[in-house]
Amino acid sequence: MTNLLVSILAIGAALLLAVMVIGPALFGSPWHPISRRNLKRALDFCETQAGEHLVDLGSGDGRVLITAAKEYGLVGTGIEIDPIKVWLANLRVRLAGVSDQVKIVRANIFDHDYREADILFIYLTHQAIDKLFPKILEQLKPNAKILCYRFCIQGMTPDKVNADKTLFLYTLNKGTRVNQFR
Ligand SMILES: C[S@@+](CC[C@H](N)C(=O)[O-])C[C@H]1O[C@@H](n2cnc3c(N)ncnc32)[C@H](O)[C@@H]1O
Repeated sequence: MTNLLVSILAIGAALLLAVMVIGPALFGSPWHPISRRNLKRALDFCETQAGEHLVDLGSGDGRVLITAAKEYGLVGTGIEIDPIKVWLANLRVRLAGVSDQVKIVRANIFDHDYREADILFIYLTHQAIDKLFPKILEQLKPNAKILCYRFCIQGMTPDKVNADKTLFLYTLNKGTRVNQFR
C-alpha cells in the first residue's frame, strides 16, 4: 500500500515537472520568474503610461502583469503555454483584485496575434526571440515598445540599454524608420 502511494506521488511529481518545466523549455523558454526588484526596474525603465496595454510573452505566474496593473495602471494580457501556470496566474490575478485589468490566455507565443499591444514584455531565450522576429513586427502598432529582459533582439538596435545591460528597450517608429530590422 505504501509502495503504491509512493509510486503515485512519484508519477505525479514527474508529470508536474514535465508540464511546468520540461514542456515550456522545449517550446520556447524555461520558467525563470523575474525578481520583484528587476521587474520594478524594468517597468520604470520603460516609462509606461497608465492605460497602455502590456503583453507578457510567457507570463509564468502572472507577476509582471499584476505589478504592471496594480502599481503602474496598465492593462495586460499574459500568454502562457503551461496550463498549471495559467491556473496559478489567474488565481493570483483574482487575489490581487486586478481581474478587470489583466487576462491570462493559455496559448503558444508563436501563434498569438499581438496587434493590440502597446508594450511587449519579453523574458525568453535568444532561440525563442529569433523565432519571433522579425515576423512579429508586422503585427505591432506603429509606435509599439518592446521591453526585453536579459536577452536582446538580434538584428535590432535598442533605443535604450541600462547600465548593467539587462534591459533593452526598442520603440518602433514605423513610418519614419523603415527597414529598422536588418
Ligand atoms: C523566463 S520565464 C518568464 C516568466 C514571466 N514573464 C516573468 O518574467 O516572471 C518564461 C515563461 O515562458 C513560458 N513559455 C515558454 N515557451 C512558451 C511558449 N511557446 N508559449 C507560451 N509560453 C511559453 C514558460 O512556461 C515560462 O513561464
